[in-house]
Amino acid sequence: MAQSTWLPGGGTLPSIAEINDCWLEGAHHTEAAREAASQIAMCAPHIPYLVRSVRSLLGRVVKFLLARGVRQFLDLGAGVPAVGHIHEVAWGVDPECRIVYVDFDPAVAQEGRTLLADNDNVAYLCDDIRHPRELLDNPELRNVLDLSRPVAVFMLQTLQELPDSEDPVGLVAAYSNAISTGSYVCISHFGSKDEQLRNGLNLFGQMGFGAPPAITFRDPDQLTNFFAGLELIDPGVVPVPLWYPDSKDDIDHNPHLVPVHVGLGRKP
Ligand SMILES: C[S@@+](CC[C@H](N)C(=O)[O-])C[C@H]1O[C@@H](n2cnc3c(N)ncnc32)[C@H](O)[C@@H]1O
Repeated sequence: MAQSTWLPGGGTLPSIAEINDCWLEGAHHTEAAREAASQIAMCAPHIPYLVRSVRSLLGRVVKFLLARGVRQFLDLGAGVPAVGHIHEVAWGVDPECRIVYVDFDPAVAQEGRTLLADNDNVAYLCDDIRHPRELLDNPELRNVLDLSRPVAVFMLQTLQELPDSEDPVGLVAAYSNAISTGSYVCISHFGSKDEQLRNGLNLFGQMGFGAPPAITFRDPDQLTNFFAGLELIDPGVVPVPLWYPDSKDDIDHNPHLVPVHVGLGRKP
């Protein structure tokens, strides 16, 4: 069954990954996810734009890393691996790239496995990223990734689902400590200046759609703390459209106002 949030009326909010897939115009979501996507967009109309913006960012970061010789990728909280996800971009440059996707939503992981079947260079694990040691020791992961060589670890829009009580800084440190020199960590996150989203989440509850998705907002300086022990690559922690934009569409009209920030750190 899909990872979902129980609503007071007894219904469930479909998984965020499937809702994202709707906004990315993908083909891997249910009718219920489409309905939830349109209800959320009614409350916070900028959300589909942000999701597309982060997917475009993902492609730019993968290309940046490929140009620096990285050929292994680990995506924590991956969602549905479609519509320009890591393997699509990486294999376009080098089909030998090795990728492990991880999500704890069983339905999303199953969808991922179906999509990626029959390729030894990729695996989709249904696992909880809050247990880094167990995850990194998982034989399925080790069959694909050689952790003695550089790997790029992605956590795009994942840590905002972890409250401070879950120690997300310590969690990132556990992954940073475990990867080899020359590896990278990329994190994107909702910032607290997103009044539109805050209001939208409130409105979601008031309109009777049930409990809104639980999100922890973190500012750019909090996001910077996640990169302790890593060299933050220029331009540092910035709004997503300003991280090496490669087209006019990436930048849009007011890129500095986009309330999702990203950073890329390199393990020295
Ligand atoms: C907002 S979606 C982002 C998906 C993708 N990274 C993207 O940018 O399109 C966050 C994903 O993280 C997953 N997730 C959240 N907490 C997780 C955990 N503790 N372990 C594994 N996956 C998790 C959710 O199931 C969801 O698919």
